[in-house]
Amino acid sequence: MNKEDKYDIASQYAKKDGEVVLRDHVYDGIQEYDQKLPNWWLYTLYAAIVWFVVYWVIYYHTKNYKTDGERVVAGMNVIEGIKSKELEATLASLDNKTLIEKWSTDTNIVNNGLATYTTNCVACHAADLSATMVAGDQKFPLPGLALNDGNWKYGAEPMAIFKLIHDGTPPESTGHNGARMTPWSQQLSPKQIAEVTAFLISENRKDFTPVTP
Ligand code: HEC
Repeated sequence: MNKEDKYDIASQYAKKDGEVVLRDHVYDGIQEYDQKLPNWWLYTLYAAIVWFVVYWVIYYHTKNYKTDGERVVAGMNVIEGIKSKELEATLASLDNKTLIEKWSTDTNIVNNGLATYTTNCVACHAADLSATMVAGDQKFPLPGLALNDGNWKYGAEPMAIFKLIHDGTPPESTGHNGARMTPWSQQLSPKQIAEVTAFLISENRKDFTPVTP
């Protein structure tokens, strides 16, 4: 092949089926054959390119077709909406009976309540609800009231306990040795407060039966 042929690219490619051309370039002593791709292969490629453009326009540039991600998010939003409506309704109609019969007997709810209690309440009420800390053979009182002594200072009713946790020590009360309960409504959702109430009921079953509606 002379020097001018180097620029005659067309002659380096096969144009007919079955034609085999040895390509000009050499890499590491290796040369390539060129053969014409079969038409069925080429048309599939062209069709795929056309389909890509059509698909891309329809999928990403029209409002009618949502991506999978958007569909999942939309679906989750619907579910969340239904759930939060249910929760609102439940909390709006939350009463002693529901807390005793439903919430405090539901293992999931009680476990959530226990988790909330462990994170937020043990410092003043102790893990065993006794509001005392044991060090060696001595017992020290913690700031909170015992939650397992059968005494419910602001009413032995689930909703009274819910309210106390939600709103904290009422303004007219001087608290316990001057210490007051924080209104937990700022840190915890109504659901979490209901759950922790359910947990306390489940730990003090004897105080909350028979059911007072
Ligand atoms: C910083 C200390 C502190 C923390 C933390 C705390 N409490 Fe209290 N809690 C108190 C004090 C003090 C009282 C007594 C309030 C009073 O007498 O007005 C009390 C009272 C209570 C009572 C009433 C007990 C009874 O015998 O009537 C309940 C129920 C209660 N707390 C639940 C909780 C829950 C649930 C949490 C966690 C979300 C919590 N507390 C976290 C200090 C605390």
